Amino acid sequence: MIKKCLFPAAGYGTRFLPATKSMPKEMMPIVNKPLIEYGVDEAIQAGMTDMCIVTGRGKHSLMDHFDKNYELEHQISGTSKEALLNDIRDVIDSANFTYIRQHEMKGLGHAILTGRALVGDEPFAVVLADDLCINKEQGVLAQMAALYKQFRCSIVAVEEVPADETHKYGVIAGEALTDNLMRVTDMVEKPEQGTAPSNLAIIGRYILTPDIFDIIENTPPGKGGEIQITDALLQQAKSGCVLAYKFDGKRFDCGSVEGFIEATNYCFENIYQHS
Ligand code: G1P
Repeated sequence: MIKKCLFPAAGYGTRFLPATKSMPKEMMPIVNKPLIEYGVDEAIQAGMTDMCIVTGRGKHSLMDHFDKNYELEHQISGTSKEALLNDIRDVIDSANFTYIRQHEMKGLGHAILTGRALVGDEPFAVVLADDLCINKEQGVLAQMAALYKQFRCSIVAVEEVPADETHKYGVIAGEALTDNLMRVTDMVEKPEQGTAPSNLAIIGRYILTPDIFDIIENTPPGKGGEIQITDALLQQAKSGCVLAYKFDGKRFDCGSVEGFIEATNYCFENIYQHS
């Protein structure tokens, strides 16, 4: 039912300099697969077929990754290494990839609005590739897509975090509908220490209804002077319904060096060695 998945991928990844000086942070590999490919796999598993990528300067290798490399194909064709390309070949065959450039870095809300030309007027998913989510049975996007089918409104994935970490995230408050689902009543982007409305942090998986675009257009800059999706979603929650979903699965913050290393170790032991 949800066909399109938007990947804001224009950021600089300064925390990983110098690695990210000329390589997009989304191309940093967790073991042998770039971060963004994990996100694309998750979207495909959720039945999505259109990957809409918001890029910026110096991100050509993202486009090359999701395209055929004839020279390489020719070189390894018929050799024992050929099987190593199977996964990415399947990804390329299973989805369409479209790209748009974000010219200015004006926040996540602005990045999502930039993707409007690719998404159009339909509900869509958003994946922040920095947040690597692993669930061997059903990926987080598939869980959220199933909820969308039932509720037909925007949904954010949330996770409990320690109180001294809420300032790094968008944080929600809500009324419980079930054990793992809430109706959002408040939402604050990176609240100051001690002021968070709860310990439920938004992680980088969203399903958004397309009216969010007009709302973002009318959202003034918020935290850090940037246009925040969190502020737009609070607006949407006030006039309609936004749900927060405590997903099933593990999540690694690969935007931080520690999280990146943790994800690498986890994927090496639990995925790579069993493949
Ligand atoms: C963004 C969002 C924030 C969310 C986070 C999840 O922040 O603005 O609400 O909690 O992603 O990773 P960023 O990490 O890009 O600063």
